[in-house]
Amino acid sequence: MKIYIEDNYEAVSKKAALIVASQIILKPKSVLGLATGSTPVGMYSELVRMFNRGELDFREVTTFNLDEYYGLPKQHSSSYYTYMMENFFRHINVPEDKIHIPNGMAENIVRECLEYEERIRIAGGIDLQVLGIGANGHIGFNEPGNKLNVTTHLVGLSAKTIADNSRFFDNPQEVPKEALSVGIATIMKAKKIVLLATGSNKAEAMREMTSGFVNTQVPASILQTHSDIILIADREAGALIEEIND
Ligand code: F6R
Repeated sequence: MKIYIEDNYEAVSKKAALIVASQIILKPKSVLGLATGSTPVGMYSELVRMFNRGELDFREVTTFNLDEYYGLPKQHSSSYYTYMMENFFRHINVPEDKIHIPNGMAENIVRECLEYEERIRIAGGIDLQVLGIGANGHIGFNEPGNKLNVTTHLVGLSAKTIADNSRFFDNPQEVPKEALSVGIATIMKAKKIVLLATGSNKAEAMREMTSGFVNTQVPASILQTHSDIILIADREAGALIEEIND
């Protein structure tokens, strides 16, 4: 595990973007696993800047997002589909048919999850998975106490996650209580993982996830067993951990 502690949010975003960019330069047909939330917004902006400068080409890239709210139409302003379009896809040249986001409105959710897994398999698996981390240690929407050996599935969001997500909705009643999420087993199959964490509310989760103990109460703790994982934290999120970059 490599751990980088950067001065601030901008530096975290820049380093993460450089890692994604290197992946695409080294393998133009890369399959990227992508996250939403506040943390990677700066990374996406940085990647868009590189694209606009002609430094990156997404034509052959395939993407799979980690999650989508259950029961929220993709056109909803708070859907992860809208987030991805606004923050990233609309500004770059990744072909639409290479973009994958779970369909939270699918009639048959079990089939949607199985098909999502199958699409990842057919694409050749995830080359680089970008992750954020919940203040409660979740990755994707794999919440504390959930099984660690699952693939894409429907999850009930924890009270903490629902409260955290309410900032993205005008009306707190609207915050979905369930989501489709790529499971931990699928995340662990990614060839490389980069996890970003910024802000003091993530410091505890970062300490727990790197402590040496794998446990279901901190789903991210399983990442310690991945053979190619990079954590990038700002000073606040990294306040309780040490840098490891050898
Ligand atoms: C989002 C996702 C979540 C977030 C996490 C952190 O696709 O999978 O695990 O990465 O909730 O969210 P922010 O970055 O908003 O603190």
